[in-house]
Amino acid sequence: MAEDLTIIRGSKEEQYLALIPQIKALIEGETDLVANLANITGALKEQFGWFWVGFYLVKGEQLVLGPFQGPVACTRINKGRGVCGTSWAKAETLIVPDVEKFPGHIACSSLSRSEIVVPLINNGTVWGVLDVDSELPDQFDETDKTHLEKIVSLIHN
Ligand code: SME
Repeated sequence: MAEDLTIIRGSKEEQYLALIPQIKALIEGETDLVANLANITGALKEQFGWFWVGFYLVKGEQLVLGPFQGPVACTRINKGRGVCGTSWAKAETLIVPDVEKFPGHIACSSLSRSEIVVPLINNGTVWGVLDVDSELPDQFDETDKTHLEKIVSLIHN
């Protein structure tokens, strides 16, 4: 497995298309979940330079902070709370162009302006979420949804 990443310039679509095989190569052959989640956050942060990229994992009735890249963050989120808890409850990806307009948004950092949260689903059950935050408004769209959903589908818990 290669432990280095080739960063490419280009459209968002091109960046994802170059990144996804590299993420596959990074995590294939490694069975440790934390190691794989950690490398995925590193790869996404390095390619896209987002403000915050990380995982929250379902533990009982809460999401608990997992591997991430970026400033320190809230450690526990209840089901149905914030963008992450809502994505968990609905088992669907949420794109939030303006976090101030999302009722109940949890501001781990006041610098975050837009966000996308993608649930990790196994046999119909959400076992975590991938959360990405940007300091700029309206940074996430269907391209991110499609490719981030593809990336999380590569993870085996
Ligand atoms: N904003 C998220 C909380 C997690 S942090 O952004 C890292 C939410 O509303 O669920």
